[in-house]
Amino acid sequence: MQAFNYKQNELHAENVALSAIAEKYGTPTYVYSRAHIEAQYRSYADALEGVEHLVCFAVKANSNIAVLNILARLGAGFDIVSVGELERVLAAGGKPERVVFSGVGKTREEMRRALEVGVHCFNVESVDELDRLQEVAAHLGVIAPVSLRVNPDVDAGTHPYISTGLKDNKFGIDIEIAESVYLRAATLSNIAIKGVDCHIGSQLTTLDPFLDALDRVLLLVDRLAQRGIQVSHLDLGGGLGVRYQDEEPPCAGDYMAAVRERVAGRNLALVFEPGRYIVANAGVLLTKVEYLKHTEHKDFAIVDAAMNDLLRPALYQAWMGVQPVKPRTGMPRSYDVVGPVCETGDFLAKERELVLAENDLLAVCSAGAYGFVMSSNYNSRGRAAEVVVDDDKAYLVRRRETIEELYAHESLLPES
Ligand code: LLP
Repeated sequence: MQAFNYKQNELHAENVALSAIAEKYGTPTYVYSRAHIEAQYRSYADALEGVEHLVCFAVKANSNIAVLNILARLGAGFDIVSVGELERVLAAGGKPERVVFSGVGKTREEMRRALEVGVHCFNVESVDELDRLQEVAAHLGVIAPVSLRVNPDVDAGTHPYISTGLKDNKFGIDIEIAESVYLRAATLSNIAIKGVDCHIGSQLTTLDPFLDALDRVLLLVDRLAQRGIQVSHLDLGGGLGVRYQDEEPPCAGDYMAAVRERVAGRNLALVFEPGRYIVANAGVLLTKVEYLKHTEHKDFAIVDAAMNDLLRPALYQAWMGVQPVKPRTGMPRSYDVVGPVCETGDFLAKERELVLAENDLLAVCSAGAYGFVMSSNYNSRGRAAEVVVDDDKAYLVRRRETIEELYAHESLLPES
């Protein structure tokens, strides 16, 4: 579904005009569509009907508790990577028994809390982590449910910063040695082996790498069975891509169908950890043009959102669409859309044909995933507001940070 559409020549989120949101809540503001989030979640969950499954939204993609709550109400699970994300999930009404805990650096305190609330599974990424989890679980007198995150050495063919399934990166356990780590896990008194987990990267636009990884993981499942280790679930991570520009990624339905075909006849529950696919195109970053700066070589639109609000273009040279909220007629110019931060890398988009005037509103598209969550206070800029639109209503789900909040946790040295 398309959540952001022009009606009467004005860009709307569902049935709310973006200009009305800017007027009421100011800019920059992230705007999310509830209907889009729900439709994307359902496209995963519905395609898994008839198989035991858990669709665990990757909280890192968008951790606003209103967004998590929308998903929790649909019965979603959650993929977390920190105790902070765990507490958000709980605050949003998510069920701990539907939480999988990923990440290479789990601390003892994080393990303790996750065991206390009873998460579904720990996705363990190293032998040392396994031993540590055994120790923490033994101390609490509980059993820790575990999958090993294996690294199947598959090239996801995506940006190197978001490719995670190759041998030379920090994630997971080399699939070649995974069998021996499972054998070790089987000897640990407070560890219960539940599954095999892998996540090979993000923004994948073809199914082949996923299916390659799956084939390798299934071979491991068979080898484990021969050694008397039965796993009950397969966690295939997240990674399904979305359209930012002209990509044509497969839809969840096609992906799920291909996976189901390969695991048919095996008694395996399926777990997925989609983030971007659920929320990327459910959100825009609404921003206002402060200045138009025409130089001899370039035209700049200086807007009130910056790299601290939306880091993807600066960090990954990511292409994000830019749409005028109220398109004008006239001769377009090729604008670099840049923020007020004092860095040359502070841009949101480059060379976009736009007809603009000061105070115009722009929507930076596909900003629902890895947008607000990666924002910072760099240049002492308060973080943006967040709004969820539900049909013809807009709800403020995070108010804009105030100036006082920027230094509220700081203190002066004593007077000498
Ligand atoms: N599971 C694990 C273990 C992950 O590491 C990730 C993402 C996901 C699931 C969700 O992946 P998704 O379905 O969203 O592709 N900041 C980058 C993306 C980093 C992704 C990190 N891991 C960006 O803005 O493109």
